Amino acid sequence: MPFIEFTPKEKVNVKILDEQHEQLAALFNVLHSNLDESKRELAAETLKAIIDLVEKHFFAEERLMKQFRFTGYFSHKLEHDRFYNKLLLLADKYKKGEESIGERELDGFKQWFFNHIELNDKKCGEFLSSQGIN
Ligand SMILES: [Fe+2]
Ligand SMILES: [Fe+2]
Repeated sequence: MPFIEFTPKEKVNVKILDEQHEQLAALFNVLHSNLDESKRELAAETLKAIIDLVEKHFFAEERLMKQFRFTGYFSHKLEHDRFYNKLLLLADKYKKGEESIGERELDGFKQWFFNHIELNDKKCGEFLSSQGIN
């Protein structure tokens, strides 16, 4: 079983967002299988890919929320910003060798991923679906 299993239960029913969530889960799985110190370079590359995708994904989600004037936009964006900043800080420390990435960090990502989809993205998806976006 993969570290993060993306099942239909996690779907928010907006195609582009579901695709990006699934890609993100796949990248977290790659990172999870490269936690060994000997694979540090590969892990750093994967972390970079995760950051790029997170940027792209948050931008897409926020753009849709703004475009359709979703009232939960600000609190949702705050959640994105917090996670993004945490991710950047970790990647920066990892690059400098000041921090390692282990199960604890990955578990944190996983927890954030599922919580955020459940508590934020699903509401956003429901709203967007009601606006005819799918
Ligand atoms: Fe989100
Ligand atoms: Fe999302």
